[in-house]
Amino acid sequence: MKEIAAKEDQQRDESRELLQKRAAEIGMGGNLLYLYQGFWCPQVSIKGMMLFQQHFKAQETDLILASIPKSGTTWLKALIYTIVNRTRYSLEKSPLLANGPHGVVPFLEFDISSENHFQELDRLPNPRIFGTHSPYPALPCSVKDSAAKIVYVCRNPVDMFISYWKFSVNIPKEEEKHLSLEDAFDKFCQGLHGYGPFWDHLLGYWKASLERPDKVLFLKYEDMKKNAVLYTRKLASFVGLPFSMDEEKQGLIEEISRLCSFESMKSYEATRTCTGPLGIPASAFLRKGEAGDSLNHLTPSMASRVENLIREKLRDSGLSFFLSSSFQKGA
Ligand code: PPS
Repeated sequence: MKEIAAKEDQQRDESRELLQKRAAEIGMGGNLLYLYQGFWCPQVSIKGMMLFQQHFKAQETDLILASIPKSGTTWLKALIYTIVNRTRYSLEKSPLLANGPHGVVPFLEFDISSENHFQELDRLPNPRIFGTHSPYPALPCSVKDSAAKIVYVCRNPVDMFISYWKFSVNIPKEEEKHLSLEDAFDKFCQGLHGYGPFWDHLLGYWKASLERPDKVLFLKYEDMKKNAVLYTRKLASFVGLPFSMDEEKQGLIEEISRLCSFESMKSYEATRTCTGPLGIPASAFLRKGEAGDSLNHLTPSMASRVENLIREKLRDSGLSFFLSSSFQKGA
């Protein structure tokens, strides 16, 4: 035990020393970000990122749920957890209801705080499910090179931006200050937000999904909103647990997608009583749950700046977002 504590102290000193040499900026959420391996890592998760990279050993059956914050992570965690555990727990007795998605699927760079803790993960039942906001290139090699599967969810950049900004202004801050919508937007366009730039994050997983479609499933929040049942079925097949004919006939897919819908999740006991990562109330992770909410907040000039960025950054990638359609509510 003493050895482990000494090693952790050493790591703390190393990460402090490393941080002193790094570029730092205030991000769009008003929090401090460090430039780490080519992306903007929030100060609160930099130690966690290093531990994750150094000590996490992926297993062949692992399921890694990846996203940039505010893109549908909470929803994806609920869906995958319920799909994977559907024969273990009845839907009414699912631990998801009492603990919430962040309580049953930990984040690798937030919720696991020591080397020792990473070793304990080896004892979790298979398939293990984890969340991460890490960009693809920063994932540990064992995740990228093993048969572990990755599901990535992204979201229209303007809805993601508004969700992120609304989240950050509603979280009380001590030392950090809240930014106005205009200042936050400017930061977003410069890529100054947790795990940003947005475009690099997206393209890292997008390219991996094109190269290895059996390993990386790339999803869009807006598509899932349009047809949650279709995506519940798709997720089950991708993780190797397709619904049987009997389950289809019983309507289980519809039941799972209903259980994980925004409206149902709002009513979970966990949403009223639990906290999510970093002690933030679980309710803060469920705000409006709509596609196109940015319509209510952005000026036309902001939308056109993002449209230009989409054209520039995603050119020739085969990936696109249509702001005008997502600007019609519910699209
Ligand atoms: S985090 O902090 O990264 O875990 O946040 P994340 O879950 O990625 O994003 C939060 C936004 O997702 C919405 N949300 C949902 N939408 C649809 N269905 C379900 N079940 C659901 N759960 C969470 C949540 O409301 C946030 O979006 P906004 O636009 O702010 O409402």
